[in-house]
Order: sequence, then C-alpha cells, then structure tokens
Amino acid sequence: MKTAVVTGITGQDGSYLAELLLEKDYKVIGLVRRSAMEDKKFYNISHLLQNPNLILENGDLTDSPSLWRVIKEYRPDEFYNLAAQSHVGASFTSPESTLEINATGVLNCLEAIRNLKPDTKFYQASTSEMFGDNMNAPQNEETVLSPVSPYACAKVYAHNLVINYRKAYGLFACSGILFNHESPRRGEQFVTRKITKAAARIKLGLQNELRLGNLEAKRDWGYAKEYVEGMWMMMQHHTPDDYVLGTGVTHTISEFITCISDIAGYNLFNHVVIDDKFKRPSEVPLLLADPSKAKRVLGWQPKTDLNQLAELMYNSDLEKEKNNVK
Ligand code: NAP
Ligand code: GDD
Repeated sequence: MKTAVVTGITGQDGSYLAELLLEKDYKVIGLVRRSAMEDKKFYNISHLLQNPNLILENGDLTDSPSLWRVIKEYRPDEFYNLAAQSHVGASFTSPESTLEINATGVLNCLEAIRNLKPDTKFYQASTSEMFGDNMNAPQNEETVLSPVSPYACAKVYAHNLVINYRKAYGLFACSGILFNHESPRRGEQFVTRKITKAAARIKLGLQNELRLGNLEAKRDWGYAKEYVEGMWMMMQHHTPDDYVLGTGVTHTISEFITCISDIAGYNLFNHVVIDDKFKRPSEVPLLLADPSKAKRVLGWQPKTDLNQLAELMYNSDLEKEKNNVK
C-alpha cells in the first residue's frame, strides 16, 4: 500500500485528490490547520472521514516542525502540496501571509523531504496565474512568466524552487501548471461559484443582487475532478517534469454569466452590479492553455466543457439552497 501526504485536503482539489487516492488503495495522510470553525472545516471531505485509510494530522505549511513530524512518522511515497492562500484578490490585502504560505511554505516542504526522506515524490500546485500579463497565448511550459499579484509572485518563487531542488538534489519534484478549475466544491469567493450560488439564490427569491468586479478577463475553466487525475499521472511518470493542464478554450466572465442565464432560465445580467471593491490593483487579462504536452506524455485530457461544468455547479447550488430553505 502506498502512502501519500496531501496538504490542503479540506480544499477543493485536496478533497478530490484524496478521493482518487483512496480509490487507488493509498493510505492518505491529510494535513489540516486548526480552525475556530472545526465543524465546518471538513465539509468537502465529510464523506471520506469514516475511511480507515484516511488519517488527518494537524499541521501548517508555515510550521516546519509539523511537516518534519508527519514525514518522519509516515515516510510517504508521495507528497502533494495543494495547500495555499489561493485567492488572488486576497493576496493584495494580505501579501505577507500569502508569501509565507505560498512561497516559504513550499521551501519548508522541500527541506523536510530532502533531509528526512529524499525519495518521496513531490507535487507542487503551480498555476497559470504565473503567466500574468504576458498576452502571448496559448500558454505552455515554455511561456515566459510575468506575475502581477503577490499570489502569483509567491507561486513563481515556489515553481522555480521545485525546479532547483530537482536539479540540485535530484528530488522527484514536479509542478502542475494548472489553469482555473472549478466544481461544486469551489470556494464561494471565486467568481464561477459566486455566480452559480447567487444565480440559484436569485432563482429561489433569496437574493436580488450579484456584485462583481471585472467581467472582461478571460479564463480557461475546467473541471477540478479531472485535474487531480493529471496530478496523479505526473507523479507516476518515470521522470519528474512540469506540465500545463487546461482545456485550450477561453471565455470572459460575461460569457460565463450568459451561460448560467441560459441554464437558469432568466437574464442574470439584470441582477449584476459592478462593484469596484471586487476589482484588483492589477489583473491577468487572458489565460488560455496549450495542454498538448500533458496529452502527449501523460495521456491526460479534459472531458468536461464549460456548459457542462456550469450546469453541474448551478444544479448543485440550486439543490443546496432549496435544502437550506426547507
Ligand atoms: P482551496 O480550495 O482554497 O484550498 C486551499 C487549501 O489550503 C485549504 O485546505 C486550506 O486549509 C489549505 N491551507 C491554506 N493555508 C494553509 C497553511 N498555512 N497550512 C496548511 N494548509 C493551508 O484551493 P484549491 O482551489 O483546492 O487549490 C489547490 C491548490 O492549487 C492551491 O495551491 C492553489 O493555489 C492551486 N491552484 C488552484 C487552481 C484552481 O483553479 N483551483 C489553479 C491553479 C493552482 P483551510 O481549510 O484551513 O483554509
Ligand atoms: N473572485 C472574484 N470575485 N473574481 C471576480 C469577481 C468577483 O466578484 N468579479 C470579477 N472577477 C474576475 C477576477 O478579477 C478574475 O479576472 C476572474 O474573475 C477570476 O477570478 P477568480 O475566480 O478569483 O480566479 P483567479 O483566476 O483570480 O484565480 C484562480 O485561478 C488561478 C489559476 O489561474 C484561483 O483558483 C487561483 O488559486 C489559481 O491559481
């Protein structure tokens, strides 16, 4: 039985990855931070908590001793680092903690592995956000990085560090440069989920307004459940490397709202209010993936298009909101 550590297991990707690894008969060690809202924290993995092969350990990326303790105790075969302060907008208001978690936190993981169990394979959650304001598209593994937020600057540092530890110490360390991926488990402050949740609530007469920022940015949105399969595939390949995962199709936020309007059966634009509070000091205008390397080398490709994804998310929110009303 293989053992994998998953940081960020309470988040969207961590929960899907834990599901996948448990299906594959891994022992999964999930690293979780203490929270004042202990009851709410496990929402995404509540259906997994009874699985005897899932063990939750307290820890934090910014607390090296907790990482060292987990590696010493479980001697993992694979280590997936999905934990992060993952909200780009929030990184402008909390830049220091974002850097500490998303940059130094990755150094802490790599150092723990290098010192204690250097044959542990390491996966880093890199991001298309690193391409920033580079308008050359589609973007692939060779595209020049041009980060435009504290979040992306920290992720670039971590991305380069992974390459450095691979070259300098021979670690099996790889990065998935993932374009935006969504699901019913997406955090409610990210734009797709904010829109699907509000659309469901407006449909049910529970709210009337949807306040948003810039609607013209373009994003390449895929389905999170498929992207965690790509992470696992990178870790099974004989050579560690970096791969772009994305769909190769891009849409504006406005187009996503149109899509949800069609699904919900009313014009959601009539409820949208533009609020500068949700605009960022600098913006990533265009993300469009070239995922051909992942297809060629790993055999990975996305299956769910934006309409299917939007329908999945809207229907899930509609059900949740109906249940809340009951
Ligand atoms: P998410 O839902 O926001 O989950 C983030 C996870 O990180 C949560 O479990 C959170 O725990 C944990 N975390 C935050 N700070 C931590 C710390 N100091 N120590 C330990 N755990 C900590 O994010 P996601 O969408 O699943 O994304 C997963 C990873 O992929 C992130 O690194 C993100 O930056 C990256 N990424 C995401 C996308 C995307 O489109 N989703 C695209 C590219 C890259 P709490 O529950 O305690 O907050
Ligand atoms: N969150 C949010 N809220 N975004 C809004 C809003 C709003 O009210 N209104 C407009 N937007 C715009 C943002 O300015 C951005 O251009 C776009 O919608 C997408 O925003 P998010 O859903 O917050 O995602 P992101 O692209 O900034 O970041 C996500 O994807 C990255 C990969 O490219 C996150 O998951 C990151 O962690 C990930 O690295």
